[in-house]
Amino acid sequence: MSTSSDQVATLSGLSAAELRGAGELAARFPLTPNAEPATAASHAEIMGDLTFGVAHTDHMVRAAWTPQEGWHGHRTEAYGPLTLSPAAAVLHYGQEIFEGLKAYRHADGSVWTFRPGFNAARFAASARRLAMPPLPEEDFVGSLAALVAADERWVPDAEGSSLYLRPLMIATEPFLGVRAAHQMEYLVIASPVGPYFAHGFEPVSIWVAQDYHRVGPGGLGAAKTGGNYAASLLPQQDAYDKGFEQVCFLDAATSTQLEELGGMNVFVVDADGTVRTPALTGTILEGGTRSSILQLLRDAGRTVREETIVLSELLDQIRSGEVAETFACGTAAVITPIGRLAGEGFDVTVADGRPGPVTTELYTALTDIQLGRRADPHDWMYRIV
Ligand SMILES: Cc1ncc(COP(=O)(O)O)c(C=O)c1O
Repeated sequence: MSTSSDQVATLSGLSAAELRGAGELAARFPLTPNAEPATAASHAEIMGDLTFGVAHTDHMVRAAWTPQEGWHGHRTEAYGPLTLSPAAAVLHYGQEIFEGLKAYRHADGSVWTFRPGFNAARFAASARRLAMPPLPEEDFVGSLAALVAADERWVPDAEGSSLYLRPLMIATEPFLGVRAAHQMEYLVIASPVGPYFAHGFEPVSIWVAQDYHRVGPGGLGAAKTGGNYAASLLPQQDAYDKGFEQVCFLDAATSTQLEELGGMNVFVVDADGTVRTPALTGTILEGGTRSSILQLLRDAGRTVREETIVLSELLDQIRSGEVAETFACGTAAVITPIGRLAGEGFDVTVADGRPGPVTTELYTALTDIQLGRRADPHDWMYRIV
């Protein structure tokens, strides 16, 4: 009963060729250097032992918004705590959005980001859904360029490592009434990171949540906003307790269709080479990695389908061998093979628990482009330094 659709990605954003140069855009966020940056010793200690999302760099980017002034106060300054009223709307009603992307060091020392225009477009789309003012896309890219330029020493060069960039927008207006706030703050912070999964490119085990949903029809699923992640934390914790690494969520309306993991999209590779991923129905976050994988597969002439994937059918297809590989993808973990899929009443192993050839090929292609090791025909890479 799966319905095939030719639905294509809805976000693409400006390509690197369409964006103004990083120096010009970064100048929109003038730098006041941190007077007390991390010492050389503490920098070396942090960079020598990178885990995901623990350390932060010396600077952050900021801008503010009010209806009267629009976006103003663009700047790059020392990383540090915020002053926020306890009545700030974000603390009560969760009016906030965020993004996640990486800066990569290439072998020649240059520093690049991957499809920042895509994330800029998604950030603007998330803003609209949360009744927040969209940030102009070139301001978004400029803010990344400004922070990376200020914190260039924090861009690692070890294989699998990068500088993770976290833009966010929060409603800062001190007002307890329930309505869209009239005061916003935009920030970007950065964190040098190693691989998301300590075990690297090895299959993960997934627990399929049947009692909990992350989002529902008409809700916030297509936006990158904190509430969706809050909804995923308890099922994620349950999955850990059961010995699984990640949770896969089903659609809230029928609890029969695969949607995505807490922070990654999912793909299925059929034994005949067809590649499938859940269609964008409004309850799934459209990933830049997902979009890029679809493009790479189409470039390679593969059959690609964005369609409904019914869990019971998928389990049968895995058992019969009709499905050869499954994998998850996202900026943080790039591409991660799924080796085991379990839930109440089922537990199946995919591809003997080993990374399959299509998954491996895609991982290599994508990371080669990101690290400047192969051609970039779609102008995805944007040079910052
Ligand atoms: C819920 C969710 N789905 C999918 C993704 C993958 O998106 P991307 O490939 O743009 O990182 C992410 C990560 O941002 C996510 O949080």
